Parts: sequence; C-alpha cells; structure tokens
Amino acid sequence: MFRRSSSFPLLLVPSLVVLLASPPSRHEAQAETAGTPLSPPAGYKPEKKLVRTWNSKCATCHGEDGRAHTEQGKEMGIDDMTKAAYWKDVTVERARKSVLEGIKRTVKGKEQEMKPFGDRLTPQQVDALNLFAVSFFKK
Ligand code: HEC
Repeated sequence: MFRRSSSFPLLLVPSLVVLLASPPSRHEAQAETAGTPLSPPAGYKPEKKLVRTWNSKCATCHGEDGRAHTEQGKEMGIDDMTKAAYWKDVTVERARKSVLEGIKRTVKGKEQEMKPFGDRLTPQQVDALNLFAVSFFKK
C-alpha cells in the first residue's frame, strides 16, 4: 500500500512535464501566421461616434486621414494608411494585437511607439477602429 501511493505522484510528474513542454499544436501554430483579411464591407460607412473616437485617440499620430502627416507621425516615420503597401501583411488579428498591446520598435533609425490601448478600448472597439483605418486605403 505504501509503495503504490508513493509511486503515483512520481509517475504523474514526468507526464506533466511532457504536457507542458510539448510544442503548440498545428492549429495554434497556424493561427499566428494565417488570419482574417482586414477589409471593410462594400459600401462601408463608419458611424459618427467611431470617427470621433479615431480623431481623439488615433489621429494624433495617424492623422484624421490616415496619412500620418502629423508631428508625431513625421517624428516616428509612421507610414501612410491610404497605401496598399501599409496593409500588405496586416490581418484583423495582427492589427487587434498591435493596438491592444502597443508597438515599440526602431525602424530605419526612428523609434516608433504606439502605446497599448488594451486598458481603454475593448477588442471590438479596436476591430471597428481598424476597419475604419483600412478604409482610408479604399477611399
Ligand atoms: C502615439 C502614436 C500613435 C497613436 C496615438 C496610435 N498609433 Fe497606431 N501606430 C503607431 C505606430 C508608431 C505604428 C507602427 C508604425 C507604422 O504604422 O508605420 C502604428 C501602427 C498601427 C497599425 C498597424 C499595426 C500593424 O500590426 O502593422 C494600426 C492598425 C494602428 N496603428 C491603429 C491605431 C488605432 C486604431 C489607434 C487609435 C486607437 C492608433 N493606432 C493610435 C502609433 C500610434
């Protein structure tokens, strides 16, 4: 009886280790690269409230028209959202993550920083703002 009860946890430990160390499943690994294309539906017309939110929270850097012709946009070398190239690899998921968690990187010697909006905006609000942002490219 003593032997059985003491060997039980010993067997459990290696199987837990295997579980924790196993690589992400195929499905999870794909989710990082694949994603939903970011594009507004035909005839897209943003609600006034959404435009107001963009203008107050996002336009200081990206501009009201997405061209980033702003003081901070120039300082950080932010790219033009009206260009197809801007959206080339950007999926709904990536854009959501970038806005919720922020961006901090150096590109061509310029420090680029978008503060995380996760404490101020819901993922749904962020998705809606990103649809508005990508609609600059269609205009
Ligand atoms: C303080 C400046 C700043 C503000 C404010 C800001 N951004 Fe950004 N944003 C950046 C920078 C810097 C980048 C990365 C460089 C670039 O886009 O060229 C970026 C990139 C993005 C991208 C592309 C993300 C990607 O993964 O490629 C999206 C989408 C975006 N911002 C949306 C928003 C939205 C929506 C808001 C408002 C809620 C917002 N941004 C507010 C600075 C800002």
